[in-house]
Amino acid sequence: MKRVALLGATGSIGRQALEIIEAYPELELVAAASGSQPIDGLAPLTQVGGDLTELLERAAPDVVLNAVVGFAGLPATLWTLERGVDLALANKESLVAGGDLAVSAWKGRGGRILPVDSEHSAAFQLLEGRPPDVVHSLVLTASGGPFRGRTRAELGVVTPSEALAHPTWNMGPKITVDSATLMNKGLELIEAHFLFGLDYDRIEVVIHPTSIVHALVRFRDGASLAHVGYPDMRVPISFALTYPERAATPIEPLEFGSGLILEFALPDEQAFPCLGLARAAGEAGGTAPCVLNAANEVAVGAFLDEQLPFLGISDVVERTLSSVDSPPAQDLDELVAVDAEARRTASALMRELVH
Ligand SMILES: NC(=O)c1ccc[n+]([C@@H]2O[C@H](COP(=O)([O-])OP(=O)(O)OC[C@H]3O[C@@H](n4cnc5c(N)ncnc54)[C@H](OP(=O)(O)O)[C@@H]3O)[C@@H](O)[C@H]2O)c1
Repeated sequence: MKRVALLGATGSIGRQALEIIEAYPELELVAAASGSQPIDGLAPLTQVGGDLTELLERAAPDVVLNAVVGFAGLPATLWTLERGVDLALANKESLVAGGDLAVSAWKGRGGRILPVDSEHSAAFQLLEGRPPDVVHSLVLTASGGPFRGRTRAELGVVTPSEALAHPTWNMGPKITVDSATLMNKGLELIEAHFLFGLDYDRIEVVIHPTSIVHALVRFRDGASLAHVGYPDMRVPISFALTYPERAATPIEPLEFGSGLILEFALPDEQAFPCLGLARAAGEAGGTAPCVLNAANEVAVGAFLDEQLPFLGISDVVERTLSSVDSPPAQDLDELVAVDAEARRTASALMRELVH
């Protein structure tokens, strides 16, 4: 039996994880957490909000599925890695904001990070633990979101409900807006850097509208391997929770008789500047990715509340990055302080921008 703690149990990933856990007898849900929705009776131990590491201490799980959205997931990520417990990681923001701290907590402690993001799950499977020097480059695919092909001028008038209508994935609101701005792929670029130890110039992003190819690795011998399958998050969730068993799921295998379309194009970074901002923040290092993430969380929240136009998201992120110092953080307290300052700055810049 594998004892699972599920953080973010009421979300899009959390609900799909419950389905996987229910169907696989060797997974036992020992603890579950949400942010504010009641979850009484969902698991022997439950917690709503507060410090999720208290729940983890009590539950002593074999694997933690961190499916909380945003920076709030970071303490649980660090707790899990520090104790050498396996981490099924959906909460990409924790690795983006706290990548250096997470990697030093992870190394040598014996726990594995099993990525739940479909692209990183794919890359994890393609790499099979091989060291970075056999890899020429990693290619992350992006659907392009609901606004693929639109010009910057056209993006000036898009609404939250249009941004929430994602063409291939059904996800929580924050990541759906991140997909529409391409910030999601920027966050994934930083996530991949920390997960696989690859420099940023060896991680590429391509637009692939049907989301059939999840990632592709080019090796130094000239071979490229791709991970393909229908876009369904239950596959990477199941892979992470049942690793290395690769348990059966109800998802159909890929069919070639139904018009599979594999198209690729380079992203339009002028219309979607968030991708370049994330790459620059990743390359700058220190706490720049934490600042990027904080500003983005604030701006996306404001966009969803109709307080900021769509193009304001990248503006707020860019201005926050150039206004907040981002030296490396020595510990979680320092990182939390940087995150808080970036949030304050982003909110102030946003007020200037909309008045
Ligand atoms: N959805 C996808 O297909 C997908 C794919 C790849 C990666 N991811 C990543 O997975 C994570 C979750 O995404 P999602 O789409 O599942 O988001 P979501 O549907 O918005 O769900 C978020 C979950 O986090 C909980 N939560 C929020 N703040 C919390 C806090 N302070 N403490 C404890 N729990 C808190 C929410 O609880 P309440 O319901 O009580 O607010 C909810 O259970 C994100 O990092 C996202 O980038 C998602």
